[in-house]
Amino acid sequence: MSPGFDVEPVRWEGTLHLLDQRLLPDREAWVMCRGVSDAVEAIGDLTVRGAPAIGVAAAYAMVLAVPDSGGDLGSAMTSVRDGGEALKAARPTAVNLAWAVDRQLEVASAVQAESAPGIERLRDALLESARSIHESEVAACRRIGSIGADLVPDGASVLTHCNAGALATGGYGSALGIVRGAVEAGKQVHVWVDETRPVLQGARLTAWELTRAGIPNTLIADVAAASVIARGDVDVVIVGADRIAANGDVANKIGTYGVALAASAHSVPFVVAAPVSTVDMACPSGDAIVIEERDPGEVLSIHGQRIAPRGQVAANWAFDVTPHRLVTAIITEAGVARAPYPESFRYLAGGT
Ligand code: MRU
Repeated sequence: MSPGFDVEPVRWEGTLHLLDQRLLPDREAWVMCRGVSDAVEAIGDLTVRGAPAIGVAAAYAMVLAVPDSGGDLGSAMTSVRDGGEALKAARPTAVNLAWAVDRQLEVASAVQAESAPGIERLRDALLESARSIHESEVAACRRIGSIGADLVPDGASVLTHCNAGALATGGYGSALGIVRGAVEAGKQVHVWVDETRPVLQGARLTAWELTRAGIPNTLIADVAAASVIARGDVDVVIVGADRIAANGDVANKIGTYGVALAASAHSVPFVVAAPVSTVDMACPSGDAIVIEERDPGEVLSIHGQRIAPRGQVAANWAFDVTPHRLVTAIITEAGVARAPYPESFRYLAGGT
């Protein structure tokens, strides 16, 4: 496996550094975040994107919410809580963002309850926790990759939508982690890459990651996916997720639902790969998932080039919900969930 596949989109080097995913594949440039507001902006404008990766970025951003010097712990806690609220509001659909912020708020509260808490101690504890969240998300992807590799036959053609690779997860990848796991197991794998309009995460990011890794891949227009599946050229569809409801409904990049319908119509397995942090047991079904609506300008243009009449009205839902009945399996680091999903998730969480 090419070492070039090890893309690290989020780094902490004294402060938060993000690989600017808006510029890929043409330029590899880094954005430095010095405060929470920089991170909120970077999450909102897709400098960093992908559910687990924005969770990791937000965890580090919480360190930036602690004031540099002066002030008392009480005001530092207020700043951390306000920072957490702003980060959560940056993108509503990916549950990993709120999950990571809540984890950091728990760490902050635990520090506050210590006998001699201080601002330095708060900052150190949040940084240690952010590093641990980052490491555990990457480790989860590696585990997803090795578990999911069994579902990919040697010589398989996989179809994926959006980007659920290292760029989207903080490292290794979830859906692409499975492809990677299969390749590391010695299998030949080819990937059909949906371009993923409107902002082309497939064409710009997934194709870039796979090609860097030397994994054969073919880019297709989103509108071609159903016919490629119908022709019998896809053995398994593998996608990531932004939020998975307790009943197994899956929110993922807009267009995923159409791919799932086509896969179901042609009896092709539709597999979702996601860390446990993406499963929201407090969310009963897809109906309760808030779908982010983004600037219609993303639909009206490609790379800043207008493609529709001036004044054209457009709508830009960033995600859709695939109902659980279309989902063959959900691969997490804790194991493989299958219908009925509520029982399966409870079992994987250690219940019966
Ligand atoms: O809008 P994006 O690029 O953040 O959307 C990303 C996706 O929909 C991914 O498929 C999802 O976050 C899974 S990432 C492992």
